[in-house]
Amino acid sequence: MKKDSKIVIFGGNGLLGSAVKRVLAEQDFENIKSPRSSEIDLLEKDETENYLKVEQPGYIFMTAGLVGGILGNKTRPADFLYQNSMMILNLLEGVRKFSPKSKILYTGSTCIYPKESPQPINEDRFMSGKLEETNKGYAVAKGMGIVACQSYRRQYGLDAICAMPTNMYGLNDNYDLENGHMIPSLIKKFLVAKGDGNNVSLWGSGNPRREALYSEDCADAMVYLMDNYSSEKIVNIGTGFDYSIREFANIIKGEIGGKYEIEWIFSKPGGTFEKRTDIDRLKGIYPEFNPRGLREGIRVILNNKRELERILGN
Ligand SMILES: NC(=O)c1ccc[n+]([C@@H]2O[C@H](COP(=O)([O-])OP(=O)(O)OC[C@H]3O[C@@H](n4cnc5c(N)ncnc54)[C@H](OP(=O)(O)O)[C@@H]3O)[C@@H](O)[C@H]2O)c1
Repeated sequence: MKKDSKIVIFGGNGLLGSAVKRVLAEQDFENIKSPRSSEIDLLEKDETENYLKVEQPGYIFMTAGLVGGILGNKTRPADFLYQNSMMILNLLEGVRKFSPKSKILYTGSTCIYPKESPQPINEDRFMSGKLEETNKGYAVAKGMGIVACQSYRRQYGLDAICAMPTNMYGLNDNYDLENGHMIPSLIKKFLVAKGDGNNVSLWGSGNPRREALYSEDCADAMVYLMDNYSSEKIVNIGTGFDYSIREFANIIKGEIGGKYEIEWIFSKPGGTFEKRTDIDRLKGIYPEFNPRGLREGIRVILNNKRELERILGN
C-alpha cells in the first residue's frame, strides 16, 4: 500500500473498523474513507455498487457487520444470518462489476469453527464439525463470507483475503449489557460497582477459558496482511494465550479497583469450556506480531476519558 492509496473501511465507526482507522493514521496513510451505514448501506446493492463505481478504492477493509452477544444472536438469528451474508455478497459483486482491482480484506470470526475443536484451533478446522447452536446464523453467514471470497478469487481473480479474529475488546466497544461481549460487560459492571459498592453477579463457574485480543493489535495484523498477504487461505488473528473467566474478572477488577465482591452463579450456563486460536499461520506471515496482554489493553481503555464517558453513559 502506498501512503496515498485510496483505502475504504466499511464499518469504520465500530470497534474493529475504528481501530483499523487509527492504525492506518498512525502509519501515515492519508487517503482513508469510512462511510457510515447511513451513507452507504451495504444491504443496498445499488447503493454499494454506485459507491464502488465512483470511488474505485485500492484497498477495502470489510469490518462492517451485525455483531452481538449471546442474547442478540438467540433472539435475532435470521437478522444475523441475512445481514452478514448480504453485506459481503453485495460488496464482492460490486467489486467484481465496478472496481475489480480493489483488494478486499474480509473480517470473519473464530465462531466459524466447530464447537468441539482441538485446542488451539487452527484454520483447517473450518467446516469440519457442528457449530455452537446459539450463534449458528451468524457463524454460517461468516463462513459463507469466506467461501464467497474464495469463490470470487477463483472465478473472477479478485484479490480477496480473509482474517478470523478471536474475541476482541478496545475503544469504541459495545457496553450494552444485554447485547455486548464478555470484556466490555465486565468493565461496565465493575465500574458501576465501584461507584455504588454493590456486589457483582457473574454467570457460571468462572472456569471456562477465553482468549481476548485488543482491537488495535487485530487492526495492526490486518493492515500487515493487506500489505503482505494474498491467498485464499484464511488467517486466524488471536493472541495464542488464554485466561479463565475468573482470571479475566480478577484482572479487570484489579485494574478498576473498588470495594465490592464478585458472586458466581453456578446454576447459570458458562459456555464452551475452552476457545483459543492457533496463530502459527499469522506468525509465519508476520513474525513480529506481538499482541499486548490483558492488563495493558484494559489500562488503555480506563485511561481514555471519552471511553469512560461512553461506558457509564449508556
Ligand atoms: N467484536 C468482536 O469481538 C469480534 C470478534 C471476531 C470478529 N468480529 C468481526 O469483526 C467485524 C467488526 O466487528 P465490531 O465488533 O467492530 O462490530 P461493531 O462495533 O458492531 O461495528 C460494526 C460496524 O458495521 C457497520 N454496519 C452495520 N450494518 C451495516 C450496513 N448495513 N451497511 C454498512 N455498514 C454497516 C456499522 O456502521 P455504523 O456504525 O455506521 O452503523 C458499524 O460501524 C465484524 O465482521 C465481526 O463479525 C468481531
